[in-house]
Amino acid sequence: MDKNVGEEQEQPWWRQGVVYQVYPRSFADANGDGLGDIAGVTSKVGYLDALGVDAVWLSPFYPSELADGGYDVADYRDVDPRLGTLADFDQMLAALHARGIKVVVDIVPNHTSDRHEWFQRALAAGRGSPERERYIFRDGVGDQPPADWESMFGGPAWQRVSDGQWYLHNFAVEQPDLNWSHPEVRADFVATLRFWSDRGVDGFRIDVAHMLTKDMSEPLLSRSELDALPRDGLHPMIDRDDVHEVYAEWRRVFDSYDPPRTAVAEAWVDKARVPLYASRDSLGQAFNFDLLQADFDAGQFRSVVQDNLELARASGSSSTWVLSNHDVVRHATRYGLPHPERLPNGDPVRKHGTEWVASGGVSPELDRALGERRARAATLFMLALPGASYLYQGEELGLHEVAEIDASARQDPTFFRSGGEDFGRDGCRVPLPWRPDGTSFGFGTDGAHLPQPAWFADYAVSVEEADPRSTLALYRRALALRRSLQTAERLEWVQTGRDDVLHFRRPGGWEVVTNFGAEPYPLPRNDAAIASSPLDEAGLLPRDTTVWFSAV
Ligand code: GLC
Repeated sequence: MDKNVGEEQEQPWWRQGVVYQVYPRSFADANGDGLGDIAGVTSKVGYLDALGVDAVWLSPFYPSELADGGYDVADYRDVDPRLGTLADFDQMLAALHARGIKVVVDIVPNHTSDRHEWFQRALAAGRGSPERERYIFRDGVGDQPPADWESMFGGPAWQRVSDGQWYLHNFAVEQPDLNWSHPEVRADFVATLRFWSDRGVDGFRIDVAHMLTKDMSEPLLSRSELDALPRDGLHPMIDRDDVHEVYAEWRRVFDSYDPPRTAVAEAWVDKARVPLYASRDSLGQAFNFDLLQADFDAGQFRSVVQDNLELARASGSSSTWVLSNHDVVRHATRYGLPHPERLPNGDPVRKHGTEWVASGGVSPELDRALGERRARAATLFMLALPGASYLYQGEELGLHEVAEIDASARQDPTFFRSGGEDFGRDGCRVPLPWRPDGTSFGFGTDGAHLPQPAWFADYAVSVEEADPRSTLALYRRALALRRSLQTAERLEWVQTGRDDVLHFRRPGGWEVVTNFGAEPYPLPRNDAAIASSPLDEAGLLPRDTTVWFSAV
């Protein structure tokens, strides 16, 4: 039996790791102020260990005014005092490392917070000052902004300051874009990468990695002119080839550590250009968001897998798989909606470019059970693929998107900047339920910063821990089994004779069959190792179910 043990031993952890994304403000609240914190993560190290993940990726926990859930960073080398201290961070890191769990932190280099010391100094120093050079300030045209560009979160991308100049913000007003042509900007991020690497973090997730460098030569093009330009590496704003000069320097930093620090790019770029980010000379790995944009559909899943395995080969990296994260509608909910791209109230789910960003809406039409059943099947399919799998906190509970958040409680700038038209991303960021009771379902002792619905009780960790059929129990069994079956980064497809059933085999005899259709499918074997839903009828794989077989 070809288990490719040799190849497996050579693999660095990140190639086929399972990385669990923690959204720190909504994971666990140790000090009872309604906001999750670093000590909260430390208190759940046993939970993460029992779940069986290889690494934890923490979304930003740095000082922030929370204009964009922490992605507006005021100080890259500290912990938000509401979330703890650097000492708490060190303690958390040590506790995770003691369990063999790696730690990945989020770096947000496209923009700072407007509270960042540099931006405050830029405002104070005035037009033409060296302080303004670290950002992108321009004079307007009369009373109008320098160009008609739109921010990713809706509304204009330029904001006027008191002396009449304007600054560029591709995201929220409170997130001024940095000027990556400035040597001090470059040097400062190298210092940040060293700061966290010296503390012992294992890797970095790079936020909007495709937007740092810009060609701001004048005259500035209009929005429609920019939109019409090809994204071939020379586009003035997006996915420029010269961004890899930044990452080549970062690579030298990563490689100066033993073991080398890792990085994964969040880059929403044309597929063919993803390998540039994933290559060994650049960041080394890149997210592929194709699965989270696919419907629960065999044909779509198969081509996503095929394409991305080829792209991974082209980059020399491994592929990454993601079904849910802090920016998209949770997959249990996506799969339980009658029209995959519609909210239950009939509104289309809005996207930024190719990104899902909307959430919410009352949900009379949401079929929760179907959504969860499909989510379990999709997860079991994903976890068997060659490459790394990224999980988002709460998906292991089968959690749904929280649709019923009152406008007054919403936090996401996309909601406000679209005048409430886009529900935003709060629905997947609601604090986790740890117990079926208490003021915040065990999240903390004094409420939760986003309101938790009553139905969270059914999904509480303690409830699911006591139920061997729960989604949590499935994730635990699957992750343990995955560890024992993990093998070379290859798969081969097996013919099924049906368009709605996928069957693949990994080296060593790990076989996976998913029935995306409505009709049961005859099982090829009768020794299932794990199934995403009960195999009620002997010899048949029911609808919306994945099964693994472990050896020939
Ligand atoms: C990334 C993050 C998202 C954030 C944006 C701006 O897309 O995932 O949450 O709002 O960057 O930093």
